[in-house]
Amino acid sequence: MTTKEYLTGLYSIEQEISLIRKIMESINNEEEMSPTSLINLATLNCLIGDVETGDLLLKEFEDISKRETDARKSIRLFKKHQIAQLRNRRKHIRTFILNTQTILKEQRKKYSFNKSKEVFQMYPREINVLHFEEVFKNKNPINIELCSGYGEWLITKAEEKKEENWIGIELYRDRVYNSWATKIFAGLDNVACVWGDAMNVLMLNIMPESIDNIYLNFPEPPKYENSPTNLFTIQFFFQVARILKLDGIFCLLTDSPIVVNIVNKQFAHSEILRNKFQIQGKTMFEKKIPDGYGTSYFDQLWKNGKINQDRFFMKIKKIM
Ligand SMILES: C[S@@+](CC[C@H](N)C(=O)[O-])C[C@H]1O[C@@H](n2cnc3c(N)ncnc32)[C@H](O)[C@@H]1O
Repeated sequence: MTTKEYLTGLYSIEQEISLIRKIMESINNEEEMSPTSLINLATLNCLIGDVETGDLLLKEFEDISKRETDARKSIRLFKKHQIAQLRNRRKHIRTFILNTQTILKEQRKKYSFNKSKEVFQMYPREINVLHFEEVFKNKNPINIELCSGYGEWLITKAEEKKEENWIGIELYRDRVYNSWATKIFAGLDNVACVWGDAMNVLMLNIMPESIDNIYLNFPEPPKYENSPTNLFTIQFFFQVARILKLDGIFCLLTDSPIVVNIVNKQFAHSEILRNKFQIQGKTMFEKKIPDGYGTSYFDQLWKNGKINQDRFFMKIKKIM
């Protein structure tokens, strides 16, 4: 079984203990066990209450990740970055293990991604409205991170600002799964995860004027302006305006001049759009990121690779 097949299986069979065991046996026989697989297996075991196996897998992760070398510099840098991120996730798993080990095995809580009330599975599209208040049970400010990836930035923010609620919207289910698992390990009850396409979720599932802040960090740049994967259409910004409360903020951080160009064009072409928002910086995009804004998987990727890539930051406020 290849690592990819294994991971595909992993995410669809969570909670099936016998299948997890089978997968683990087949992987033990494999010559090469990747650090990612080990962290994911540790995650799964912990979530079903077997923190002892989770602990063993973490130890194996440490051994294997020290051995990871590759002759090619670019691959070495990428792997270095990947392992730094996995170590970050390992920290959360470790804390969970320490807190759970003392509880009797049969009394440990089991967590299910598929049944979790803080996970909304909206892919490819659903038409029901999401009621976040049922998850958070408070009226605290609501922040959304679009395209939240593995949830590094989201979870860090949620830990820093526990008096606010944080929602990640992400297209890939395994990334949503990882964000959710980290939220469980970190013991956070102010995080919800949405599996879905950002534009569909904004358009179909979120109540008007219900969100305080929307963040978008390192979105994938479209290959060209009219590409079907271009998120930055005029409709996208109208949806952002629709769901934000008055004085609500939208922040975009990107390293892509293509994204900067497209966004600038949308605002230049539409007076209605310009009237809905007030630019908060001196210009639409600034090269300075505000202090304390935080770092994400992709930001770290550039830093670890020591790539001097420009970053562009946009902050706009909804004014009507
Ligand atoms: C370059 S990554 C950045 C992830 C994260 N924001 C970070 O800074 O580490 C872009 C992310 O956007 C997600 N994505 C791409 N298109 C999307 C869409 N239409 N809706 C939701 N997520 C999307 C990808 O799956 C990927 O995880």
